Order: sequence, then structure tokens, then C-alpha cells
Amino acid sequence: MFDIQKVRNDFPLLQNTIYKRPVVYLDNAATTQKPRIVIDNTAEYLSKYNSNIHRGVHYLSEKMTEAYESARQTVKNFIGAAHHHEIIFTSGTTESINLVAFSFGEAFVEAGDEIVVSQMEHHSNIVPWQMLCERKNAHLKVLPITYTGELNMTALTSVVTNRTKLIAITHVSNSLGTINPIKEMIQFAHARSIPVLIDGAQGIQHQPVNVQELDCDFYVFSGHKIYGPTGIGVLYGKEKWLEKMPPYKGGGDMIKTVTFEKTIYNDLPFKFEAGTTNFIGAVGLATALRYLNDIGRADILKYEEELYSYALQKMQTIDYVRIIGTAEHKTSIISFLLQNIHPFDTGMMLDKMDIAVRTGNHCTQPLMKFFGIEGTVRVSFAFYNTIEEVDYLVESLKKVKQLFS
Ligand code: ALA
Repeated sequence: MFDIQKVRNDFPLLQNTIYKRPVVYLDNAATTQKPRIVIDNTAEYLSKYNSNIHRGVHYLSEKMTEAYESARQTVKNFIGAAHHHEIIFTSGTTESINLVAFSFGEAFVEAGDEIVVSQMEHHSNIVPWQMLCERKNAHLKVLPITYTGELNMTALTSVVTNRTKLIAITHVSNSLGTINPIKEMIQFAHARSIPVLIDGAQGIQHQPVNVQELDCDFYVFSGHKIYGPTGIGVLYGKEKWLEKMPPYKGGGDMIKTVTFEKTIYNDLPFKFEAGTTNFIGAVGLATALRYLNDIGRADILKYEEELYSYALQKMQTIDYVRIIGTAEHKTSIISFLLQNIHPFDTGMMLDKMDIAVRTGNHCTQPLMKFFGIEGTVRVSFAFYNTIEEVDYLVESLKKVKQLFS
């Protein structure tokens, strides 16, 4: 097992005092902190090699292109993809989903067809599909969930029909922490020749992911939620789909030749990488993934599991805490309400105690509506959080309750 103190020292922001003590950062589902190696590496590439990729014959451009393409290889290996050209760099999860919704939609969705999402999706995995459905006169169908916050898998057979063109499901719920049975979902869908997109924004940093073993058709995630920079993300897509999908945006790297009469598009992955991509971000993301590999993914996941079990058990024993989402398989996220105190007030009080949490609907308004609430307080963990921080959170919640009663 890794040395937690050493890990914490790798993250400069965790050393900062906000009011009275170093911040207890429990908003990792919104964005994670960056290890020094990512910060340094980004600064190094900016100060030594910054130059546009795929365009120059000069040393700097070649160096930067090499680093960018090597970052693609790192991502490919990290998620176990079959080919490097199945890795498309985007600006993040939201753009990855929009890309698929547009391009897959153009190629495969017609009037009367259906797209299936679940009740627990983030707005980013609802709205792009709604836009597609409006464009194509197709229908968005919703897989219901249970009051424990799990997908209602028995409803699949009625929600999925012979008009279903794609199922888009989150790996881990950003509001509840539920780990969805994505493998089972993919097997169900593939038995009916339906492709599946997995929103891995909250999944990949807490669960092992091998896209070939999962056999998912698309897996998307953001760099900044896995200790990398903002503005960089990944769309993994199976070659067989990406080849048939038209480009999402035009310009720059996505062309082979242009005349006013016709443009010949570039091969994968460049077909989907129009304009100057965030090459510095891609290198930063690859550095973050290598950092995780160096510490040991298995150890990180084991530590997170232990920390999470401890936190959940502690929170469950507080009688005035109502946990929203009590699925059997959960990770890293606890959403809750503290008696009748407004989540915003709880969040503000915790902030004054140097604890950073998120409050609100977490971009899942339909999910909040299902539970009949406006929002929750959400704590979300990373592998640099500690048992002591959990204890401090629990003590602080007691204080918040006392202050309000
Ligand atoms: N989608 C991010 C979250 O759940 C911002 O906090």
C-alpha cells in the first residue's frame, strides 16, 4: 500500500490553509486536485516544447506531436483499447457525448427511432440526446431507477424496443455514487445489436476499466476528474462505429484535402479532432495516468474502497443524516441531507470549517425530482483523502446541526 502522507505531499493545493487549517477537499467529483508532476510537466511542455502539432517540420513541432501521440498511446493502454485511433481527444466528457450524439445520430438515427438513458443521468448525458431526438424526430426513453438509487434492470425489456438505436448510461452516478451494472447492460444491449455509450466521468478514477473486456461501444471521460488538466477529455469509440460516423466539427486536422467542391476527411482519430487540439492538456492527462499507474491502480482502488466504507458506515450511524442513494454497490460519493437544514446552508457552514463539499442538484435535476428534493450535500472522495478527514467531517456535521437547532 502507498504512503498516504507522501501522496498528499504530491498535491500542492492540499497543503493550503483556507481559513484555519489545510483544506479538507471533498469535492472530487466536481474536479480533482493535480499532483505536482502534472503541474510541472505542463509548465515544462509550455516553456520548452510549445508548438502546434501535426503541422510543422521543425524540431519543436515534431517534439510536441510526438508527446501528443504518445499521450494517446498512454490513454489507449490505460483503458485497454484495441487501437490508438479509437482514442479521440476532446475537451471533456460533455463534448465527447455531444460528438457521439451528433455524429452517431447523423449516421444511424432516423425519425421514430429511440435513444435510452436512465433517470440518474447527468444533464450532459441527457441534453445532447434530447437535441438529437429533436433534430431527428426520434424519442428519448428513460430507464427508471429504484428508491435505493439503482437502475431498474427488469424494466429494460419494456424500455428497450426494436427501435432503440443506442443506450447511454453512466458508469457511476455523480449524485448518488451508485456503480451501475454496465457489463450486464452491455450484454443485454448487444444481444439486441444495440450499441452502448458509458459515461465514465465518475467511473474511471474509481473503478478498473478495460473497454475491450467491457465490450462497450463508447466510453467517455474528463481529464480534470482524474487528476489531469481541465479542457481535455477522451472519447473512446470502437473503430467500427467511428469509421461510419461523419465528422462533428470541420476544419484543421480533420481534413485530408479541401477544394471548394469537396473535402476529403482525414482518417481516424484526426477525423474527429478539428482545429488546434489541447495538446498540452493531452500531455498533462497522460502524465496524470502514468502517475496513477506508478502508485499502483489496484492499491488506489483498494484504499478508496476502505476509506469509502469507513465514511459510509460513520455517516449511516448519524441519526439526523439522511443519505440519498443507498445502493448496494457504491463508490466515492455520499449525497445527504442534514435534517431539515438547506443543503446550501450546510455547505456554507462546512466551508467555514475548511471543508469543501458541493451542494445543489449536481446537474441531475430529473434525479432530484425523482427523490422529491431540490438538492443534496455531496461529499466525494479521492485517494488523497484520509480517515482523519472523514472523522473531522463527521464532527463538523455535528457542529452544523447544533448551530442550527
Ligand atoms: N459534473 C460535475 C459534478 O458532478 C461537475 O460535480
